Amino acid sequence: MNAVLAHQSLCEGIVDQSSIAIVFGDREGIVRLWNAGAETMFGWTAGEAIGKSMDMIIPEKHRARHWEGYDRVMETGVTKYGQSVLAVPASTKDGRRISIEFNVVLLKDADGRVLGIAATMQDVTARWERDKALRARMAELEAKLKQAGVVTENKS
Ligand code: HEM
Repeated sequence: MNAVLAHQSLCEGIVDQSSIAIVFGDREGIVRLWNAGAETMFGWTAGEAIGKSMDMIIPEKHRARHWEGYDRVMETGVTKYGQSVLAVPASTKDGRRISIEFNVVLLKDADGRVLGIAATMQDVTARWERDKALRARMAELEAKLKQAGVVTENKS
């Protein structure tokens, strides 16, 4: 087979160039992989991020819960976010706050020992803002209807 199309080389190309931000942290939570999507989403280059703690993108008030979950997963080798999505705020290099959604991919060696974990993250800030504006608009309209006696109770 053409070496360029070999599985490993395809995997490398896809991970490196994906617009989904892919970040791998080792057992200690140190960044070991930071792809092009992560550079664009968070503003830090791979050179700046690799070797540092992933705290650089975690807003301070979420760090305790993150590390509690992270250390537990490194210890047990079990995570619930392989299938379900974790939605959280994240920090960028220029100090913006964005809304992200991510899954994780837990990596183990041949003996089943956890090597670390990758997060595949998408920036959902625009959708988040739109939903927030819609919720506010709906609450406003419901209040008006209630005032006009059209609805008597707010079920949301
Ligand atoms: C970017 C900002 C991030 C924030 C704000 C954040 C925040 C959180 C929070 C609040 C939890 C607790 C969730 C719960 O108890 O249900 C958590 C758990 C976790 N986070 Fe993060 N996190 C971030 C990034 C990352 C990244 C980049 C990775 C991995 C490379 C990661 C890996 C994990 C793991 C493995 C858990 C435990 C999941 C489990 O309980 O199964 N997080 N994080």
